[in-house]
Amino acid sequence: MNILGLNYYFHDCSACLVADGKVAVAIEEERLSRQKHTPEFPERAIARCLAVAGLKPGDIDAVAVSIQPTKNWPVKVLYALAHAPNARPFVAHELIVGRNRQHVFWNWYRDTWPQGGPRVHFVPHHVAHAAGTFLVSPYEEAAIISLDASGEWSSSFIGRGAGTRVVPFSESFFPNSLGHFYESATEFCGFRPNYDEGKTMGLAPFGDPEVFGKVVDRMITVDAGGAIKVDLSWFRFQYYERRRFSTKFIEAFGPPRTGGELGDNHKNVAAAFQKALEDRALELCALVRGKTRSRHLVIAGGVALNSVMNGRILREAGFDDIYVMPAAGDNGTAIGAAFHVYHTVLGHPRVFVHDDPYLGTSYSDDHIAKVLSDCKLQAARQDDMAATAARLLSDGQILGWFQGRMEIGPRALGNRSILANPALPHMKDKINAEVKHREAFRPFAPSVPVEDKDRYFDISGESPFMLKVCPVRPQMRSQLPAITHVDGSARLHTVTREVNPRFYELLQKFGGLTGTPVLLNTSFNIQGEPIVESPEEAIRCFFSTGMDSLALGNFLVTKG
Ligand SMILES: [Fe+2]
Ligand SMILES: [Fe+2]
Repeated sequence: MNILGLNYYFHDCSACLVADGKVAVAIEEERLSRQKHTPEFPERAIARCLAVAGLKPGDIDAVAVSIQPTKNWPVKVLYALAHAPNARPFVAHELIVGRNRQHVFWNWYRDTWPQGGPRVHFVPHHVAHAAGTFLVSPYEEAAIISLDASGEWSSSFIGRGAGTRVVPFSESFFPNSLGHFYESATEFCGFRPNYDEGKTMGLAPFGDPEVFGKVVDRMITVDAGGAIKVDLSWFRFQYYERRRFSTKFIEAFGPPRTGGELGDNHKNVAAAFQKALEDRALELCALVRGKTRSRHLVIAGGVALNSVMNGRILREAGFDDIYVMPAAGDNGTAIGAAFHVYHTVLGHPRVFVHDDPYLGTSYSDDHIAKVLSDCKLQAARQDDMAATAARLLSDGQILGWFQGRMEIGPRALGNRSILANPALPHMKDKINAEVKHREAFRPFAPSVPVEDKDRYFDISGESPFMLKVCPVRPQMRSQLPAITHVDGSARLHTVTREVNPRFYELLQKFGGLTGTPVLLNTSFNIQGEPIVESPEEAIRCFFSTGMDSLALGNFLVTKG
């Protein structure tokens, strides 16, 4: 039974193949189109998923998509009427864009299966988010929270998962949205909203959450039933205006940043919005925990990429453990839609836990050798790449690390990564300036073998997808300056031998040389570009940045 899962309606378009209840391949369109967060139909991703799995369109038994195009239309029309005339243009826009996307999908469908194709299942967006994290989690039963800006007008979903079913308790609707609320702060800080929320999160610890705390806290509330409510007098996003916040917002918090230096007011806004987001999420957790009495929580939706929020939920919400699927944003709804169809619609039992994020394309050493020779590059084949890489890293090199199958989701988890020694104090500034070309305040994340995590980090359980932030142990902070953020935290990645043997071995060997099996791990790309997918892209990125060496499979490329 092969199900093709698709997210083609929202941003971060993606495709996956679920074969007999297990993810065989999952690829984001941005990696192939080279347009970050692309909303384009994932035609390339579909073709590559089929190629990697060795399947033809005729082998597909069902198509699952993460949109139910007709859902919430009455709510949208009522909204347009109630907020006339301001809301009309954008509701009309939604209609037109939605119609166009459906049109593209059906054209593709007819081209692919001219004689008639498999059944198409339209799965509501937040059901796809919720299913995409619960049905692939290690839990038989769990509380569920899904939070995003909005998908089909819904902005939140809380409920309970048991067996192969997801039961909703409550939903919130646009414009009452934690995602849109937070995007406004992103825009106010001069970053790109619905894109750069990670920057806002990274900036927050530089501000004082108390300065604007009282005002911001009252802007957004959660009622006893779990419905999110936003005081819209502070915002304009409800009309899809170009500026998401109102004049009242500027009067209270000062001028928004338009390029130039970040002011104290921007840092304080980031801090207050981050705190309000976490506090509201904790309220939702308390509610859903009370209703389900579950010991476990699963989280999804674009807001679930806020790893600082996830870290606080893990520490404070009272669950034994939490699971966040690796592609918690809209990219993961392709997987969620497919699993919803396989289990909930078709009734198959669960046989899969999504603990392996390496579900994309890979390139053999033969292929890499051919690319290197086409580029007229000299590269030495290594007998023990982990040992070679560990030595270079302990010498202070910045290393491109391209191995095995590409990750699904926004984080590089040791297969498309740039690595360095986090003990070197200048390393963070060096990589920000010479390799990633990004803001100096942004932190880098550490990878550590799971057995060694407790020595350096204060976290319960694992963090296999780098989606949980935790404190670095105080005595270790000065030893790991390049991955310790200004507030003493780190966005941790724990590595197991079972899931990524080669990266695990590298960490072990690096630890053998330096005494500390922790590596700085950042995604293999430069600011604004998607993570590299192919050896050619890795080579291009390597030579256009200040990386010192590049490990391409078993080949080592050097400079100079
Ligand atoms: Fe979403
Ligand atoms: Fe979204």
